[in-house]
Amino acid sequence: MKALKRTIAAVAGLAMMAGLAACGGDRTSSGATDEKIEEGATVGISMPTKSEERWNKDGNNLKANLEKKGYKVILSFADDKPAQQNADIENMVNNDAKIVVVAAKDGTAVGPAVEKARDAGAKVIAYDRLIMNTEAVDYYATFQLEQVGVLEANYIIDTLGLKDGEKGPFNIELFTGSPDDNNAKYFFKGAWELLQPYFESGVLVSPSNHGGGIDKDSTVDGNWQKISVMSWKTEQAQKDMESILDSTYSHGEKLDAVLSPYDGISQGVINAIQTKRPDMVPGTDTWPVITGQDAMEIAIKNISDGTQAQTVFKDVNKLATAVEEMIVEIAEGKEVSGINGEFNNDKIDVPSKLLDPVSITKDNLSDLVDAGYVTQEKFDQLTGK
Ligand code: BGC
Repeated sequence: MKALKRTIAAVAGLAMMAGLAACGGDRTSSGATDEKIEEGATVGISMPTKSEERWNKDGNNLKANLEKKGYKVILSFADDKPAQQNADIENMVNNDAKIVVVAAKDGTAVGPAVEKARDAGAKVIAYDRLIMNTEAVDYYATFQLEQVGVLEANYIIDTLGLKDGEKGPFNIELFTGSPDDNNAKYFFKGAWELLQPYFESGVLVSPSNHGGGIDKDSTVDGNWQKISVMSWKTEQAQKDMESILDSTYSHGEKLDAVLSPYDGISQGVINAIQTKRPDMVPGTDTWPVITGQDAMEIAIKNISDGTQAQTVFKDVNKLATAVEEMIVEIAEGKEVSGINGEFNNDKIDVPSKLLDPVSITKDNLSDLVDAGYVTQEKFDQLTGK
């Protein structure tokens, strides 16, 4: 909490300095400028892939919001290929985009493309995933990243009764997201800080040698990429989980929990368990607690069926609104409001707007309908009503 307060104070300070600089007509990275963007200007939106549910929602929501406000929008999906994404961004700049919004496939590889955009005079907004190692990022909008891992880890801790003194030892296997996505590190950080003390006391153990093994001495920086799943792929997660089950759980050993940072990875884990350990039965003590993220349709079904226990919901409608507000303020030459944090991208501290993620389980699954994230009809279909 203290760190957050310090961050807010620092950002407020930055904003004030930016405000002063703006009086001199300077271009600043975090505050108002006297350069306005003409009405009906073009905004580029570069999404990493169409093959994951959320980026379609994200891209289309933002496009619809901006078009309602009178902007021209170029929306591209990069098929999980960094070179494609860089070409997409170049195309936006060639079409005179004044603002580019980028959810990076590879946070570092996209640097040169946004630098070109910046050189051409465009503002750059990192969307959900931070763009690394460049000065060419004006703002970042995302969800409280560590909080995602906190919600997942706390769900496991509560379900296994660790705070009530259950001693286990409980077997847990851990996965992180894509090694080229800076978010994946923060998700793990939030979770590991809560889980590590239970490794220390021996209540949690990770018996497989997945990614070289996880034990009490593991660290976020030292280990997160070793247990990662490239491009967050279901198939890769399934393969990895199958080898974990073959090596360590092939003689009826109990698996108590799997920390999964994304519903697609959870699906791979579920597929692997169903293939290799048909004696594990959802809804009974034999089935592990499996977490996730994104509240994908498949996760709604899995949570309803009891194969997945929890997911973390990030309301992308709210993120689209937050970014739309940013764009309008930038276009009007105003100071961007609602900045409540900053993230270092290994070059600069990027002023950030951070929204709150929410834990979803069977008990509050229908909140996804109330939030307008999924229709009642689709929800009923997924939950077999
Ligand atoms: C996003 C997550 C998403 C993951 C896989 C991350 O960068 O923050 O919401 O689950 O990518 O697409």
